[in-house]
Amino acid sequence: MRLLELSSVSKDFAKLEVLKEINLSVSSGERHAIIGPNGAGKTTLFNLISGKYRPSAGIISFRGRNVTHWGPHKRNRLGLSRSFQINNAFFGLDVFENVRTGVRSRFGLRYSFFKRPGGMPGIDEETWTILNQVGLADYAGIPARELSYGQQRALEIGMAMSTDPELILLDEPTAGMTREETDGAVDLISRVTAGKTLIIIEHDMDVVFSLSDTVTVLQNGAVLISDKPQVVRQDQRVKDAYLGSD
Ligand SMILES: Nc1ncnc2c1ncn2[C@@H]1O[C@H](COP(=O)(O)OP(=O)(O)O)[C@@H](O)[C@H]1O
Ligand SMILES: [Mg+2]
Repeated sequence: MRLLELSSVSKDFAKLEVLKEINLSVSSGERHAIIGPNGAGKTTLFNLISGKYRPSAGIISFRGRNVTHWGPHKRNRLGLSRSFQINNAFFGLDVFENVRTGVRSRFGLRYSFFKRPGGMPGIDEETWTILNQVGLADYAGIPARELSYGQQRALEIGMAMSTDPELILLDEPTAGMTREETDGAVDLISRVTAGKTLIIIEHDMDVVFSLSDTVTVLQNGAVLISDKPQVVRQDQRVKDAYLGSD
């Protein structure tokens, strides 16, 4: 089943054409990697899919609904989640509270409702499940700022999963990681996104080829190729640009 579909989606910023007539189709359960040089428009594409930006032209549908003009919260409620970098607002909160905030929003209830002591058992249980999945249960009471770099990225993935999304968008989740941290992150991502649909922007080709079953190459705001990893790997233009000649 087709979960996400972009038809002739373009995005301009003032006179700058950043994305040009993008067609992209992602099926339910697919693990889709997006690669391309810096400035190709990858993050902008995510911003259009998540609803942060509206396209200048074209149509985005998700779960059969035309969501082109929907905002991020409405798309999130329909099962679309993107990871975002934990920032100052979250650094001071402990790990448990960071994840619980997302779980709580899944239950569709307002924060103030849970200010009473004890909270909601279902929400706390689900928060523990996610913390266990991302390997942070032992760090539940620690402020996010005290986590290691790799653990902060794991927390971001946990937060993205906390709304129990159908489709999850991860923008360079292994950026700045050591080889060892990257291997850990790949393992974590495949575990927590099992049974979900994943779109991942990734620069590390080992990660791309170990995680994905479809690869889209963006170049100058256009799709160069979108196909199975083994096909993309053999494409001469891709080889020249990214994989080096062997
Ligand atoms: N909000 C914005 N306003 C103006 N230009 C932007 C904005 N966001 C991105 N761009 C431009 O769009 C181009 C693509 O950026 P981006 O999507 O971040 O690329 P990538 O993630 O592939 O490195 C860049 O030239 C960038 O400067
Ligand atoms: Mg980017």
